[in-house]
Formats: sequence, C-alpha cells, structure tokens
Amino acid sequence: MTLADPFGRKVTGLRIAITSRCNLSCLYCHREGEETGLSGRREISDDEIVNVIWAGVDLGVKRIKLTGGEPLMRADLESILERLPENLEISLTTNGTHLVGRAQSLAEAGLDRVNVSLDSLDPLVYSQITGGTEADHHRVLEGIEAAVEAGLVPVKVNMVVLKENEGEVWDMVNYARDRGVILQLIELLDLQGRGIGGDLSRIEEVLEGRAERIVTRDLHRRRKYFIDGAEVEVVRPIDNTEFCANCSRLRVTSDGKLKPCLLRNDNLVDLNSADREETKRLIERATLLRSPYFCEGRKPYR
Ligand code: 5AD
Repeated sequence: MTLADPFGRKVTGLRIAITSRCNLSCLYCHREGEETGLSGRREISDDEIVNVIWAGVDLGVKRIKLTGGEPLMRADLESILERLPENLEISLTTNGTHLVGRAQSLAEAGLDRVNVSLDSLDPLVYSQITGGTEADHHRVLEGIEAAVEAGLVPVKVNMVVLKENEGEVWDMVNYARDRGVILQLIELLDLQGRGIGGDLSRIEEVLEGRAERIVTRDLHRRRKYFIDGAEVEVVRPIDNTEFCANCSRLRVTSDGKLKPCLLRNDNLVDLNSADREETKRLIERATLLRSPYFCEGRKPYR
C-alpha cells in the first residue's frame, strides 16, 4: 500500500525529530522548521516514536530518518531502536559529538547508518560555525571513525556550504576518500535570507571537470560525483518548485506532531499518545494536508 497526497506525491519516508535539545548552536540550523522559543513544550515519547514508525510502515513507509535537535541527547535511543521493525532503512543525522561510545550500541540496536555533520576540518572554523569547542571537533572526528568501525555505513559527512567553509571543499573531498565516507555538500536553505551561503554552483562546475563519473539519482536529481576514489553527493534543490514537487516525506516534530511541510507550522497533527491503529488515521490525515509550498505563482523563499 502506498500513501499519496492530493497532488499525487507519494509518502515513503518519515523524518522524526526525537528531541529539540542540542549541545551545539550551528549558525545555519533550520531546526527542522520547528517553531522555537516556546517554553513548556513536551518531548515526543518513546511510545509515540515507536507507534508512528510501525504505523508508517503499515502504510508503506520505507525509510526513517531520526534527527533533532541532537538525537543522541536521548538516552533511550537504543531501547527505541530495539522496538522497531526489521526490514526498514533507519538512519540518523547527528552532530557526532556523542558517537564515540554509542556507535556500537546503536548498530547493535538496529540502526543502519549515520549522517554526521562536519562543516570544517579546522577547529576554529568549526567553532565559528557550530559554537562547539575544539574538544567537540576532535570528538566528531573520532565519532566518524567509530561509526565506520561499528558498520553504520555508508557513513555520510554533511557539509553545509557557507562562505566560511567553501574554500575547504577539496580538503573535505580528500578527507572523505581517506576515511571511506561519502561527502554530502549541502546547499544552505537560507530561510532568513541572510546571504551566508557559499557558491555551490561554482563548486559543482569544478566537480564536473574533475569527476571520472557522474550519476544523477532518481527524482530528487541528486548528483553524485566520483573523483579519484572519493564519492561526493550534492544536495541542492534545483529550484523551489522542484524541491516541493519531489518531496516524499512526512515530518514529525520533537513535540510529537505530524508536520506535512518543512515550511509551515499551521497544519500540524498531534500524535497525542495515540495507539498504532489511531496513529495510522493521523498519518492519513496529515498526508491529505500535504501541498507543495512552492508551486506556480508562489513567491520563492530566496
Ligand atoms: N540548510 C541546509 N541544511 C541544513 N541542515 C540544518 N539546517 C540547514 C540549513 N539551513 C542540515 C545539515 C545538517 C543537518 C543536521 O541538517 O545537513 O548537517
């Protein structure tokens, strides 16, 4: 069975923010589009996470992405993973500062793979971008190795391309090759229009010139460049309408609400500790509320 919204867009993925807590403060962070500064927000419960995933799978969901905040701020993550269905791709996006010491237990509990945010190899630039310390930076580098060792592969390293770090792209390509990880160059979603994004178009031109092979993946039109043994994926909405037209995910907020659109907070559906059957109805309701934010005639965000 496949879930589809009124615009014919299938829902095949759930992106669940399991907490809003985070030990870093990255200057670009869009906080998964959640409204912030609300005091007294609850945190989604372990049962709600487990129910929404089982209900999603019953409705045809194939991929689960766990995010935050920083998902490793939750001590009960391993016990949640142990309660999830088996034939499902479960990945986690983490800032990597707590991966050493958890990578192995996460893998044993059923996590398939991780994306680790690493915006710079230079501890000072890392601090400027993330607010983390030099020790945090060191822990991230070690965490990436721990993830590879634990088999949370392919490990992807996320680099949001900013003016601060765009000069480091080639160092990151070499780093990715040496460690056997995939580098994801991510275009900034500049929701506040601050103009801090780097020039990914120029970087892509150079990648095109240097790559021995280029693969364009499915509908999302993600391009993957193979350069001297390194794999580099470029994540960028070609334009906003396309970003929306290809959206196949439903989000779940850290306070337990189904979120039909990254860019809207006026059509959330509260999970409200519902059981698995009721959660299925809620997922269907949220799917009906999905509509492409950017379509013909809508003002783009940038
Ligand atoms: N633009 C693009 N990607 C973002 N991320 C967070 N905020 C933004 C943004 N404004 C992504 C990055 C980061 C992950 C946690 O979320 O890939 O690594």
